[in-house]
Amino acid sequence: MPFKRLFGRGDDAPPPPPPDEFTDEDDASLAPEAGLDADGLDREWRDRAVAVIPGGTSTGSKRAAALYGPGNDAGPTHFASAQGCRVVTVSGRQLLDCTMALGSVAVGYSDDAINRAVLTAVASGNVCGLATLAEVEVAERLCDMIPCAEQVRFLKSGGEGVAAAVRIARVATGRPTVIGCGYFGWQDWWNEGAGIPDGAHADFVPIPFDDVPALERAVAAAGATLAAVLLEPVIHRLPSPEWCVVARNLCDAVGAVLVFDELKTGFRLAPGGYQEFAQVEPDLAIFGKAMANGFPIAAVVGRAAIMEAAAETWISTTLAGEGVGLAATAAVLDIYAEVDVCGTLARVGRQMRESVAAAVTASGLPGVQVTGIDPMWTIEFDDEGRQQRFLERAVAAGVLFKRGAYNYASLAHDDDETLLEIERVASTALVEVVEDDAT
Ligand SMILES: Cc1ncc(COP(=O)(O)O)c(C=O)c1O
Repeated sequence: MPFKRLFGRGDDAPPPPPPDEFTDEDDASLAPEAGLDADGLDREWRDRAVAVIPGGTSTGSKRAAALYGPGNDAGPTHFASAQGCRVVTVSGRQLLDCTMALGSVAVGYSDDAINRAVLTAVASGNVCGLATLAEVEVAERLCDMIPCAEQVRFLKSGGEGVAAAVRIARVATGRPTVIGCGYFGWQDWWNEGAGIPDGAHADFVPIPFDDVPALERAVAAAGATLAAVLLEPVIHRLPSPEWCVVARNLCDAVGAVLVFDELKTGFRLAPGGYQEFAQVEPDLAIFGKAMANGFPIAAVVGRAAIMEAAAETWISTTLAGEGVGLAATAAVLDIYAEVDVCGTLARVGRQMRESVAAAVTASGLPGVQVTGIDPMWTIEFDDEGRQQRFLERAVAAGVLFKRGAYNYASLAHDDDETLLEIERVASTALVEVVEDDAT
């Protein structure tokens, strides 16, 4: 892989086990029925999935409608293998991936060193009735790396991590109200939707992004009931510098807990997340996604005086300290210690973002904006039909862009040919949409 050549990682390490190359022969259940072309095979798997999994997948952003638009089943939904930033779909199509597993992979898919660490954890017995040493070691390392971290609790998903942070803040302050801005997962405590009783989020007050007066009004209205201000610090753009500083000062003034949701910003803007990048320290923060390069783990970290409240309530899940997620995290931390990952993500992401923006301008297609920040950027279309045709054409030409959410840079994109391919495919797909419009 190109970044390995650049940074020389893993030269002394034993060779990794051979990758599980996907071939139709390996698994008869993947083999196309006679006469089934690639589209037919993709469709067959999508249909099988929808028959046994409500919505076709357990991750909302991987539904066909989320990937390609409502009613559009133009592209593949299932993959057979992934390596670096390349994905092989179930029908054998090769795609250059800009979605990087919803931001959970920043190093690259199937990284040799991370795989080796995970396989070692598996071989050592992933779990037993006692806690793993890795739980202690990784907690210590996160405390060294993340500005606000003095103690750590592990969980398995980001949403669980945020729910735990909210519970810790409520126990530590003895107060109920949480003011928040961002996406925090599917749980009831903040979400509105079918099956969630109004009372479940009665003590949650949503506020708009980067709106200082709205934040001040919400804090004043909460008064002595305020437990926490919970912010996702970057939503499509960096906030004004004062937003988080004002939140910090208001929390200090009223004795509330400031929480940053660093699921996307952690190990991406800086290893220690937005708090390290912007030098504003929250009391608690939640990390995950890139922290383990796609393996399941989340961490709630924070000041010991507040984190201690975790032991006064019941926050526990059977596999919280299992070895695989922790081993992956430890291997990721090793990589971040050796390589300027975040600097590379910013440089490579900027090249991706700017080349796609240049392709948009050159195509003359109206109503398309390339926004976001360098390591995580979006292509936004005013017109859903054009968006769908663009995504369809891009996939047909070999690149998977994310519909309505971030595209993510990874170390595996750090290669001139890869970057040129993204630009070329974006350009071709945009020009085809312009030509469609003209006919
Ligand atoms: C900022 C943020 N918080 C929380 C979550 C929920 O994490 P998970 O999907 O792992 O539960 C996400 C997921 O995208 C996220 O981006």
